[in-house]
Amino acid sequence: MIYLDNAATSFPKPEACFRRGLEDYLALGASPGRGGYDAAARSQARVREVRERVADFFGASGCVTCFGHNATDALNTLVLGLARPGSHVVSTRLEHNSVLRPLHHLRQTGACELDLVPFGPDGLVGSEMVAQALRPHTCLVVMTHASNVLGTVQPVEAVGRLCRERGIPLVLDISQSAGVVPIRMRDWGASALAFTGHKGLLGPTGVGGLVMEPGLEVLPSRFGGTGLDSLSLTHNLDLPERLEAGTLNLLGILTLGHCLDYLQGPLALELAQKEMELHGRLLEGLAALPGVTVDCPGSGPGRLPLVSCNLEGWDPSEAGMVLDGDYSIAVRAGLHCAPLAHQDLGHGAKGSLRVSLGRYNTQAHVDAFLRAAGAMLRGQ
Ligand code: ALA
Repeated sequence: MIYLDNAATSFPKPEACFRRGLEDYLALGASPGRGGYDAAARSQARVREVRERVADFFGASGCVTCFGHNATDALNTLVLGLARPGSHVVSTRLEHNSVLRPLHHLRQTGACELDLVPFGPDGLVGSEMVAQALRPHTCLVVMTHASNVLGTVQPVEAVGRLCRERGIPLVLDISQSAGVVPIRMRDWGASALAFTGHKGLLGPTGVGGLVMEPGLEVLPSRFGGTGLDSLSLTHNLDLPERLEAGTLNLLGILTLGHCLDYLQGPLALELAQKEMELHGRLLEGLAALPGVTVDCPGSGPGRLPLVSCNLEGWDPSEAGMVLDGDYSIAVRAGLHCAPLAHQDLGHGAKGSLRVSLGRYNTQAHVDAFLRAAGAMLRGQ
């Protein structure tokens, strides 16, 4: 298989990191924070180390990392925990359902008003558009750092400045950008980030979380065991326990820690550079094929290495099936869980073909996709 669906999940994985994570897990054994004995304390100390490593990796040293299942989980925690009854939230039409659905739920239940800012023909949400959407009772701005459909990296620094001036928390969904482009939470003025471990961070599925400023008033929306204050029927409000009900995914957390080390090493940085070059090659190749429409084309630092396109005469889902069946090429075809982006791009209900590159793709992979697309367009 030629795997070109790294925006869904990265594959293959850095095997040595996974092996080290499993070795640590088997050696540590005990659940972090769930016992007074030495093994539980060691386990908790290792988790604490990974929390700090995550915050450092995202330019948020000194901030709090709370682990959860994935970015959707973290976004639910942040949106439900920051939106105040009777207030107003601003987001964008580029969002994934992980942002849109919690917000839609709040609007439908009458808890909040909502404005969704459009994106321009360049696939970017201008900070001036965000500024226009703010109201006196806006309590939250939540937006994607990079679109999972277009790969456009948003000008979040300008939005962060704006939010700081108005005292409104800015939450960024970094599902697609984490591990692919540098994240600088503090420099950007963001109050919190939601991340997943299994995409650009190269880790396993089922581990992700949020990084937040310690003073951010996120109210818990799930309650349960934290290993602290067991006699109380009220959920503990200390951080990170406030936003972590139940036993943590220790294996996932330990493995993620090793993946972060790997991502900062010379090999991963070299591969990232190559990935960007392949993105340019993919775009050039598609531009040379008659009958290809690329959504908001562009490459370089403001882009993730992915392309959303349509092949003339092909329904994207059928094209995806032929690429898989006849060419053993895996791409995401159809809708990519960002319904309003598809709507505004004129994709209707059919969506697009999304080709997303990863650390381990090669020139041969890109060329194989271009040859297959060319043959399909020629009806061969
Ligand atoms: N949200 C993931 C994607 O864009 C699954 O493919």
